[in-house]
Amino acid sequence: METKKRIFSGVQPSGNITLGNYLGAIKNWVELQDDYECLYAIMDMHSITVRQDPKELKKRTLDLLKIYLACGIDPEKNLLFVQSHVPSHAQLAWVLNCYTYMGELSRMTQFKDKSKSHADNINAGLFTYPVLMAADILLYSADLVPVGKDQMQHIEICRDIAGRFNAIYGDVFKIPEGFLPKAGAKVMSLQEPLKKMSKSDPNPKGYISILDDSAVIAKKIKSAVTDSEGVVEFREGDEAKAGINNLMTIYSAVTGKTMDEITKEYAGAGYGVFKSDTADAVVEHIRPIREEYDRLSGDKAYLEGIFRSGAERAEKIASRMVSKVYKKVGFLPF
Ligand code: TRP
Repeated sequence: METKKRIFSGVQPSGNITLGNYLGAIKNWVELQDDYECLYAIMDMHSITVRQDPKELKKRTLDLLKIYLACGIDPEKNLLFVQSHVPSHAQLAWVLNCYTYMGELSRMTQFKDKSKSHADNINAGLFTYPVLMAADILLYSADLVPVGKDQMQHIEICRDIAGRFNAIYGDVFKIPEGFLPKAGAKVMSLQEPLKKMSKSDPNPKGYISILDDSAVIAKKIKSAVTDSEGVVEFREGDEAKAGINNLMTIYSAVTGKTMDEITKEYAGAGYGVFKSDTADAVVEHIRPIREEYDRLSGDKAYLEGIFRSGAERAEKIASRMVSKVYKKVGFLPF
């Protein structure tokens, strides 16, 4: 019997899922579900490293599950669960904390960035965030972890921690590989196209939420920052073209057209028409997701069934790893 490689990934329920998250990550996950054994979690424990409103967090956790499903992640083929429902994550994270150095955690770019943006709340969880993330991955012996570029440093430290543990106790953890899906479109802010489109952007005009309604999406795309040249042409690395490059990336991702085809299509047409068509294409692309999301919102029992069985199945795998690790470090079995 051939064994499929195992994939683990997750998203924090700490903001709106943007078109960038969708085109850059979730859409690719759908394409992986037949060739890999995939586990996708909702990382609520990571979310509380910055202050969250409890009601919002709860709502966003369920919203994210609905979004995963609405985007086409099949709960029969993939294991979907909520991180805090599986106690093994916290258990392994504690042990791994004791095999991780202050020095290496201090070098994490995300920690340095978040310490600046949340200067009033530089808590220990923010510091040990990568250790919990390592636990997430190592619990399931994942082969591959699809993540954005910004998370690669966390995959590296996960590999270091796992390797260090293995060097002391033998082959306990599988050393995972980071995996930048090649098809993933990198979507930038509509207002500051040199920055990544972010769900935590204080300016909502900078991002499109997958749950924005059609009129809002159209308005945001039409007011996207471009340049004064008026030529729909993709010029990689040209900062002046960053706005148009970004809109073309989006248009290409939702229509499947190449950059050359798009340039030909809009030769002499100007940005107005191109933006309007991009808006229509995005709206059409998101519509079925939105409809499925709304339908799922009316089916609480179904959603509960998914996250319950997901947690059960995940805990079964994860608790075995925790037992193994506990034994290795010398905890008295009971
Ligand atoms: N840190 C990741 C992010 O913000 C989310 C995450 C937490 C994750 N644990 C993970 C991603 C494990 C992949 C694997 O994007």
